[in-house]
Amino acid sequence: MDQTRSGELLARARRLIPGGVNSPVRAFASAHCQTPFIERGKGAYMYDEDGHRYVDYVCSWGPLVLGHAHPEVLDALRRSSEKGTSFGAPTVGEIELAERIVELVPSIEMVRLVSSGTEATMSALRLARGVTGRDRFIKFTGCYHGHGDAFLISAGSGLATFGTPSSPGIPPAVVADTIVCPYNDLDAVTKAFAENRDAIAAVFVEPVAGNMGCVLPDPGFLEGLRRLCDESGALLVFDEVMTGFRVGPHGAQGVFQVMPDLTTLGKVIGGGLPVGAYGGRREIMEQVSPQGPIYQAGTLSGNPLAVAAGLKTLEVLYRDPSNFDKLASTADRLFDGLREKAKKHGITVQTPHIGSMGALYFSRISVHNFADAEAAAGERFYRFHAAMLERGVYLAPSPYEAWFLSLAHGEAEVKKTLEAADESFALLTE
Ligand SMILES: Cc1ncc(COP(=O)(O)O)c(C=O)c1O
Repeated sequence: MDQTRSGELLARARRLIPGGVNSPVRAFASAHCQTPFIERGKGAYMYDEDGHRYVDYVCSWGPLVLGHAHPEVLDALRRSSEKGTSFGAPTVGEIELAERIVELVPSIEMVRLVSSGTEATMSALRLARGVTGRDRFIKFTGCYHGHGDAFLISAGSGLATFGTPSSPGIPPAVVADTIVCPYNDLDAVTKAFAENRDAIAAVFVEPVAGNMGCVLPDPGFLEGLRRLCDESGALLVFDEVMTGFRVGPHGAQGVFQVMPDLTTLGKVIGGGLPVGAYGGRREIMEQVSPQGPIYQAGTLSGNPLAVAAGLKTLEVLYRDPSNFDKLASTADRLFDGLREKAKKHGITVQTPHIGSMGALYFSRISVHNFADAEAAAGERFYRFHAAMLERGVYLAPSPYEAWFLSLAHGEAEVKKTLEAADESFALLTE
């Protein structure tokens, strides 16, 4: 595959930008191929600077649930931009997006818009600590909650791929109050609560863990977290930056019917522009400044363009009540097909998926936590990834990342992907 131009661009970028990229996992550092520079996207496809076309299963790491360059989103952006790009003052669109979020996410009564998922989780942590008057919190190995200092310990995806358990530059004191438990291990959480009586402000969890592939909560896990939080006065925080508007119409909390105290959102609610949000029970959110004493602010928070793209994305996504079923059935066909193609070549894979996200693990056993995901993350994934790229299928370059589908992915794209997978699995057996 000719990647001459992307290669030149990467060399040029590397002179000025660390690693040539503005977010580490874009670097394809662990893979057997190099990062294509993307020129444009349309529907389910991306086009790179060397003229290759790919079926895209990254979808900008989740936000593009309608696919690339959806005409109605572009039109909303055009109309919004003609009025100005930012005012640093309230606009009607912010109320409309807040109303939509409160309507769609069952546990959210009030919400604050920010500019990224990282900001949402950092703000939710400060809020949880502020309202409980406690400092410690629990997170799970392999769960990623953005790059805020306190969360950067045993975080999945980029950090796992780059083999960095945490990062230099984070003083030990900053993570001293972060307690890490294995995902799906209620006994460990029970023990952590027992050892830190009246000291735990919150439990942060991805209700479906999308930063170590796609790990579903075992039956009773989320319910158990809810009970332990209730017993101890800690807040349960669902990080639905990835799962919100992906695993079902009312997020993971709608699917599993477990209600957190706070929820963080991002990705889809910005329709491809930078947005995050955190929200929850009214009496907690009323503690946020200027209504309450807990400070949080942002020059571009609730930016009119991002709000316009997010609102239009949600409008189109929910316009047809069958859209979530459509996404899920496309995902079923894709992931079931991948398993069959692998089996044809004598390879056992696990393909857990829910709604429009999923993952592929080269594993004989189902994956319940980070240790299982890590055991499956061998060389085969990277060879498979490179072979798929060569055949016009763009996957995340890490076995710790989820795959995302959009409404633009249909029969033709699944067929092309499965044909590519058939050839790619075959190469692994050679
Ligand atoms: C579950 C989760 N939380 C938080 C974040 C951070 O969001 P952002 O990259 O917008 O800062 C991510 C990003 O992938 C995520 O998957």
